[in-house]
Amino acid sequence: MKRWGKVLALVAVAMVVVSVAAIAAPKTWVVGFTQVGSESEWRTADTISVQDSITNDPTLVMVYSDAQQKQENQIKAIRSFIQRKVNVILFTAIVETGYGTVLQEAQKAHIPIVMIDRPVAKEDMHYVLTIMGSDFIKEGEKAGNWLAKYLKDNGIDDGSTPIDIAELQGTTGAAPAIDRAQGFRNIAKDHPNWQINHSQDGDFTSSQGKQVMEAFLKADPKIQVLFAHNDQMALGAIQAIKEAGLQPGKDIIIIGMDAVKGMFQAIVAGEANCTIECNPLLGPQAVQAIHDLRAGKKLPARIWTIESQFDATNAAAALPTRQY
Ligand code: AHR
Repeated sequence: MKRWGKVLALVAVAMVVVSVAAIAAPKTWVVGFTQVGSESEWRTADTISVQDSITNDPTLVMVYSDAQQKQENQIKAIRSFIQRKVNVILFTAIVETGYGTVLQEAQKAHIPIVMIDRPVAKEDMHYVLTIMGSDFIKEGEKAGNWLAKYLKDNGIDDGSTPIDIAELQGTTGAAPAIDRAQGFRNIAKDHPNWQINHSQDGDFTSSQGKQVMEAFLKADPKIQVLFAHNDQMALGAIQAIKEAGLQPGKDIIIIGMDAVKGMFQAIVAGEANCTIECNPLLGPQAVQAIHDLRAGKKLPARIWTIESQFDATNAAAALPTRQY
């Protein structure tokens, strides 16, 4: 009887230890994350930021999928996350359209969708709990406003002589490509002499940026301004401009987007003129949103990132502290 008493006491102690451990150990959440690919320095910084923030959090486990710039890969990845019954799906849309069906499937499986950077089309956003990232229209407007001031300050624009502008667009159908083009035109419409004579998809990559710029210059060696939807394409275009025997940053005014280190170096070297910041370091915000979700908090539909712009007046001072 005495022995049984001891056994029961031990079992009771073990049960207390187990339940205390259960309370102390946070429940693990599985996060399915599907990224666009690795088309730019910006994208690499974004992927690392999100991956590090998730893997450094002991309460989260990440299942990662690199879509390698193909929407079908991303749709497949989301379906596999649904089958695996992950707790939350984190993703960046390669292009805006074509995700409605798979997002509806996630909704039916009660798996919340948290988006970072690029959204899906407006009509599919009701499947999405929240999106965090940049205001791409505002970025395009900032580029237009910067150009207007630069042309005026340097006595280049008299308001009537045509200004010959080339545009390197991002991936056709991607939110930043659509919105940056729109934002820039919102400003250009107030300058009737600005002529966007060349506009083509450079797929956000350096190699495409170079190739398309070569073609632009062959057709029109008198281009005065290049507006590139990201720095990666601008950096490729700078090569093409040099190879054509022209001086980037002087013969052609170069405006990019992202504020990656390579573009800062080009500005400091006088080979580019301006970059509009688009912050890729979204990991901490994404993890915060997941924690808020777990805690039952209501997330805002949009979480904006605060960003700056850089040119010859401030790029050199900011370069040493740039993280990407
Ligand atoms: O969606 C953000 C954009 O995508 C960045 O400007 C670009 O570099 C990336 O490819």
